[in-house]
Amino acid sequence: MSLYYSHKDISIYNSDILKTKSIDNNSVDLIITSPPYNLDIQYDSYNDFLSYQDYLKLCKKWFSRLYELAKEDGRFCLNIPLDKSKGGYQSVGADLTVLAKSVGWKYKTSIIWNEGHISKGSAWGSWLSASAPHIIAPVELIVIFYKKQWKKRSGSKITNINSEDFKSWTNGIWSFKGESKRKIGHPAPFPIELPYRCIKLFSYEQDLVLDPFMGSGSTLIAAIKTNRKAIGIDIEKRYCEIAKNRICDEIYTIK
Ligand SMILES: C[S@@+](CC[C@H](N)C(=O)[O-])C[C@H]1O[C@@H](n2cnc3c(N)ncnc32)[C@H](O)[C@@H]1O
Repeated sequence: MSLYYSHKDISIYNSDILKTKSIDNNSVDLIITSPPYNLDIQYDSYNDFLSYQDYLKLCKKWFSRLYELAKEDGRFCLNIPLDKSKGGYQSVGADLTVLAKSVGWKYKTSIIWNEGHISKGSAWGSWLSASAPHIIAPVELIVIFYKKQWKKRSGSKITNINSEDFKSWTNGIWSFKGESKRKIGHPAPFPIELPYRCIKLFSYEQDLVLDPFMGSGSTLIAAIKTNRKAIGIDIEKRYCEIAKNRICDEIYTIK
């Protein structure tokens, strides 16, 4: 059994999303995740530098698995890069969007997350010359899909978002800073603000939220803050431990 930790409605599984049998099909209201980006990030054991074709094949497999797990009116918030240059230029955001649609996910919209940080160093390409300049945008995408119907029929119908946040967050350009790797102890965390906004906009209280690439548990912390049930899965035991500790701190803080 791969259950690593649970507290009330929050569970962590140390497992591979492609192999886990711990989640029922057609049971998840909202999936929020940031998968490996194939940028050669040094995870503990996961190889984050596949050929682009192998990366897309792998993504297609887990897009299909997530589709099975979602409810008919289930939604999917996918945080991915717009594009990448390392290992060859690729239109990652566009390619993964097409791939998700090819297994059944329906496209709703995209949110641009302006994280305002460019780790560009001196990679200008051809400085002050049109010969080969290098362009990079300090943004990521949050692509929003749904399984069969966008209008949400299931769930408690209890919404806990105020009018100011609703007005602000339905403008699809979000600006907030990325999370510090060093502070969290994970090589690629996203800030809690990202799943927090997605949860409040796209789900009801007591809905089940899933992060299949949980990492340090940011989505689960956002779920605790918003009174949702949540499941997080990560293939690495060490990240499950980091997530567990962050969740315990959160539970202690709100007591
Ligand atoms: C970009 S990180 C997610 C970070 C997370 N959003 C956070 O805030 O910490 C991707 C995670 O996916 C995990 N992972 C890679 N392959 C996996 C798989 N097949 N099943 C489950 N987790 C996997 C990695 O260990 C890594 O922690």
